Amino acid sequence: MLLRATRDGCLALAPAKINLSLEILGKRPDGYHELRTVMAPLRWYDTLRLARGVDSASPGVIDDAGLRCQLRVIEPARGAGGAPADASNLVVRALAAVAARAGRPLSVTATLFKRIPSQAGLGGGSSDAAAAIVGANRLWDLGLSLDELRAIGASLGSDVPFFVEVMASNGQHRAACAEGRGERLRCVPSRSVACVVIKPREGLSTPEVYSNVMADDFGDHRSAPAAIEGLATGAWRRVAGRLTNALQAAAARCGAFVEELHAAFRGLPVLAHQLSGSGSAYFALCANRRVALRVAAAARTKKLGQVAVTATL
Ligand code: C5P
Repeated sequence: MLLRATRDGCLALAPAKINLSLEILGKRPDGYHELRTVMAPLRWYDTLRLARGVDSASPGVIDDAGLRCQLRVIEPARGAGGAPADASNLVVRALAAVAARAGRPLSVTATLFKRIPSQAGLGGGSSDAAAAIVGANRLWDLGLSLDELRAIGASLGSDVPFFVEVMASNGQHRAACAEGRGERLRCVPSRSVACVVIKPREGLSTPEVYSNVMADDFGDHRSAPAAIEGLATGAWRRVAGRLTNALQAAAARCGAFVEELHAAFRGLPVLAHQLSGSGSAYFALCANRRVALRVAAAARTKKLGQVAVTATL
């Protein structure tokens, strides 16, 4: 259960994601890239609590069009970039977009507990935004359709519609193949797979990574079917050689540590390994949690960053 009602509002678990495959199909006239990517949510969550109303006496109330919002961000392990606790936070922008779309003022206290590192390609900010969109629709009984929620998501970021789908289905819809900018989604069946994620100290900026993409990087058209087959069957060993992330070479041009991450998993008992999204997080799929714990212990000795053991939803 990702979203549930509380006494004064709702509580959402906003999952991270990995890209099991990412192909670039071309550059678009609007500056974005035409993508085909297969994503799966992880059992690694930010928590977003929404409560009706704000305490007007306390400082930091944000007034944004139809929205009165107080945002508190709790971030125990502040990663590269960190999450802003002001109107630029995607949670606030998402709530403002919902208020505008619903045509009614919203007054909300939001508490965001950040565990997913920023600038990691793990979709933390996008997932928080989706939790805010779906949570606000439920909390105020706004009656916005899934299409409308996804469209609000798309206005905030390319990965947000994917997380809206996951959150609105309460985790029933998990993995998906996303095309276009990322907004055209097809849900695909998936089995959970154990994985180890390394988040290096350095973050990577998504626009910077995309601006380093070269035509040769566009990727392998066999990658998405391979990822979809792996998710459906769990036969990752069979498909591993076909998985690609077209942003990996561009990310390596932005930071030499990407090559080190790639090398770190060589020789370890993993099924497949690659960069997630535009990085800087790098993941390896493992046969089961026991193997993942062993791999994580070996990866920690290389001191490349924070090492987490998790699994896809
Ligand atoms: O949509 P989002 O805000 O997540 O995108 C961040 C940046 O990533 C964009 O400004 C763009 O540079 C790049 N991007 C892209 N093509 C995509 C998605 C993102 O070029 N499909």
